[in-house]
Amino acid sequence: MAKKEINIFFDTFAPVFKLSFMLRSHTCGELTLDKLNTEVTLCGWVQRSRDLGGMTFIDLRDRYGITQLVFNMEDDSELCSRARELGREFVIQVRGRVVERSNKNPKLPTGDIEIKATALEVLNTSKVPPFIIEDETDGGEDLRAKYRYLDLRRNVIRKNLLTRHRLAAETRKYLDKQHFVEVETPVLIKSTPEGARDFVVPSRMNPGEFYALPQSPQTFKQLLMVSGMDRYYQIVKCFRDEDLRADRQPEFTQIDCEMSFVSREDILETFEGLIAHLFREIWGKEIGPMPLLPYSEAMRKYGNDKPDTRFGMTFVELKGPTAEKDLTAGKGFRIFDEAGLVAGICVEGAAGYTRKQLDELTAWVKRPQIGASGMVYARYNTDGTIKSSVDKFYDENDLKQWAAAFGAREGDLLLILAGEPSKTRKALSELRLEMGNRQGLRPMDTFQALWVVDFPLLEWDEESARWHAMHHPFTSPVPEDLPLLDSDPGRVRANAYDMVINGNEVGGGSIRIHNKELQQKMFKVLGFSPEEAQAQFGFLMDAFEFGAPPHGGIAFGFDRLCAIFSGLDSIRDVIAFPKNNSGRDVMIDSPSVISAEQLHELGISISSKS
Ligand code: AMO
Repeated sequence: MAKKEINIFFDTFAPVFKLSFMLRSHTCGELTLDKLNTEVTLCGWVQRSRDLGGMTFIDLRDRYGITQLVFNMEDDSELCSRARELGREFVIQVRGRVVERSNKNPKLPTGDIEIKATALEVLNTSKVPPFIIEDETDGGEDLRAKYRYLDLRRNVIRKNLLTRHRLAAETRKYLDKQHFVEVETPVLIKSTPEGARDFVVPSRMNPGEFYALPQSPQTFKQLLMVSGMDRYYQIVKCFRDEDLRADRQPEFTQIDCEMSFVSREDILETFEGLIAHLFREIWGKEIGPMPLLPYSEAMRKYGNDKPDTRFGMTFVELKGPTAEKDLTAGKGFRIFDEAGLVAGICVEGAAGYTRKQLDELTAWVKRPQIGASGMVYARYNTDGTIKSSVDKFYDENDLKQWAAAFGAREGDLLLILAGEPSKTRKALSELRLEMGNRQGLRPMDTFQALWVVDFPLLEWDEESARWHAMHHPFTSPVPEDLPLLDSDPGRVRANAYDMVINGNEVGGGSIRIHNKELQQKMFKVLGFSPEEAQAQFGFLMDAFEFGAPPHGGIAFGFDRLCAIFSGLDSIRDVIAFPKNNSGRDVMIDSPSVISAEQLHELGISISSKS
């Protein structure tokens, strides 16, 4: 994939550049045999130099690629001696003639030629870099983070930023064609409840008062609909103070969108179109149509509201709410007898897993992060026999019934977990993904996208003993569920949707409430007093009284999209200057303490650390 992406750039960008007014005539990525004998001037960084006695070869690198330079002792001994002195990452300007290489490198677009140097200027020297700046580096993660600007010189990292740029450009192109208007919304705002903690900024002019950084521009984009903007988008930074993971950063980017006078279907179609456009332009692939999967089915089949549908292994319940009948009862196996759910997956062709591998897998599911209390397995051997880890309780006949429920065939392996339903589904979901990885069923260049719909509007939070909005409080209920809002809030479905690609929630949105009374009622269900609701969101509810159109929208996690398009697991690799897992930027050493004067000016006193 990397090759393809880079070549797209070399091919389409470099040759159309006119650089003659600069220090160079060409870039390091564009010279090929058709420029043979041309006099050229190149600038770049010394990636590596090889001294073969009479000849010195240098790989010169810039954003566009690498070109080999050759200095010959026989042609110009003084020039060649100077070339020998060049260290890694020196910045140089070289003049010379394009000649055919005797030893061609088919891996490089410029691999058929080299530059026979006739002049050399050192534009800047460099200290020995702390790690090797090549695709394969000797630098650890922390060191590379500290010198991120050097890491960004490496092709493998830089190409991610180029892909990101292309995605942003193509997004703008598509949305512009669809009449969306890019509007900037403020960054110093008041708290928006998207479920995380806010980052706050003290106001010097209003002592004791704070701005919040937006967790998303949610309320502003809704106000833009009230103002008649009709179709809004923004590629925008959002800030959330939450625990960090591979797919989460404290500051991240959304493609944030909102539309007026639309149904859910209009929104799904528009944004399915956006993602299809991006896949077509960046990957040259068709994607979709994207199926709709109700939340309840996603939880039942995959134990997850963002299922990876590149592979099957959907859950089968031997005992549980959707099991046709309990296939585990009456055999004296206490763990299954006491469980609310006994469910498993069928791993095709994995009956050959050894006892050692299965013991290791059992230990894996018992890790605290996964949380299963144990695992039962049954091998459907190729000779037609079935052997399980619970043979003491279940005979061949029982196991054959299990196999039939799973639709298992000879050569398959059944992995079964049991316990409290939601915990068991969660653990089984992790096991399914792990087995998908182990069986090679999750290739980075295969894409499956879908919409998850019909989420519950509310979820009960035991700790605070109140309802929380599963998306955010501005999401409207599915119209036919409205009457349940008073009688049975937990059963109300949200008119909301998430887009999922390869097991990642890449976007989410909803049809909004646009009526003051319903919005007030929603805040009431969420435990806000009328005064609290008015103080926090009065501006939005007041706006609803001035002709708010029906509206809805969506926001995509832009970093997550970039990671998927770059075939990466972590969004950190697609962000130029990311934070580490403790929320620190180790390059600029932030966050950091501020001076007593600054604190005083802001009216903030901090008790010293004990
Ligand atoms: P939501 O909170 O679902 O919706 O966010 C939208 C998308 O943003 C991405 N995302 C993140 N990416 C990186 N780091 C994070 N910390 C992070 N948090 C979220 C996810 C997610 O799907 N205002 C609503 C959208 C709407 O209703 O229109 C919102 O922000 O990919």
